[in-house]
Amino acid sequence: MGRCRGGLFGVALLATTIGFAARAQPRQVNGVLGGSVLLSPLLPPNKTVTEIEWSFSAGATVVVAGFGPGGFERPDPKDRFKERLEMFNATALKIRALERGDSGVYGARIKLHPALVEDQSFNLSVYEPLPEPGIRSWLLSKSPAWCHLLLECHLPSGTGGTVAWMRGWGEPGGVRVRALCGGVLQVGVQPGSPNTTFTCRAWRALEERRRSIHLASICWNGGDGVRPGRWTVVAAGMLLAAYAARLEFPKVPPWHRHQ
Ligand SMILES: *[C@@H]1O[C@H](CO)[C@@H](O)[C@H](O)[C@H]1NC(C)=O
Ligand SMILES: *[C@@H]1O[C@H](CO)[C@@H](O)[C@H](O)[C@H]1NC(C)=O
Ligand SMILES: *[C@@H]1O[C@H](CO)[C@@H](O)[C@H](O)[C@H]1NC(C)=O
Ligand SMILES: *[C@@H]1O[C@H](CO)[C@@H](O)[C@H](O)[C@H]1NC(C)=O
Repeated sequence: MGRCRGGLFGVALLATTIGFAARAQPRQVNGVLGGSVLLSPLLPPNKTVTEIEWSFSAGATVVVAGFGPGGFERPDPKDRFKERLEMFNATALKIRALERGDSGVYGARIKLHPALVEDQSFNLSVYEPLPEPGIRSWLLSKSPAWCHLLLECHLPSGTGGTVAWMRGWGEPGGVRVRALCGGVLQVGVQPGSPNTTFTCRAWRALEERRRSIHLASICWNGGDGVRPGRWTVVAAGMLLAAYAARLEFPKVPPWHRHQ
């Protein structure tokens, strides 16, 4: 009995802590320069919203919009947002043509029928559009039976995205893959493998970019991989040794990296 009550008390305490944390922490929202973003408050079910006042803080706090009985209002239509704010629906605010200076904390003061007031906030970060990931390849060795390559996929530093390699469709036969660190794969390919397309997927929030590489063409048609120059092989071997020394290899690709 005592234990049970203790458990319930614990649950209640946890609930209030989470509730408090949810209110105090702004929700993270990411936008892309020139794109648009939706700030949509979470509302309790069965409540009627009578009014929402939206404010923006980046230094000083200013009221930027109001949703009320009179519809959509802009207290200062000459502020930094000009025509870029819209009432998406009864509760969500849309910001269009995002600019870097739109990054900051947006507050929503929500009035619920009959007299409840709730505050929610959003932390908007506006990023440069996600660039296409870069792929580099090194031919490690080639024989009539196997071709060994090192592949690296990367995003420019500071981009704040994640990359992972994906295999092409079709039979996995004739291809061996080992994931190293930092978006690097060591791959062995046999001539005549059904599909040697490898795709690097880069993503950040809702943005995604992909880039593919055809291993067969690098190995056998002199495609866009680096040719097996002696120094390339030495450099790649050193790189490989460095990765091998530093890491325990995860067994299963795709391998993820955070920048
Ligand atoms: C409130 O929610 C309950 C279900 O949770 C529903 O049956 C009821 O119709 C709702 N009342 C109103 C006024 O929307
Ligand atoms: C407004 O749109 C958002 C995003 O689609 C949705 O989550 C929210 O429920 C909508 N609110 C209303 C009142 O329809
Ligand atoms: C908002 O997000 C940015 C970038 O993620 C972060 O640096 C900043 O501390 C956040 N601000 C708040 C108030 O959470
Ligand atoms: C190989 O796989 C890719 C998907 O990664 C697909 O787009 C392509 O059509 C496939 N090629 C063949 C010959 O199956």
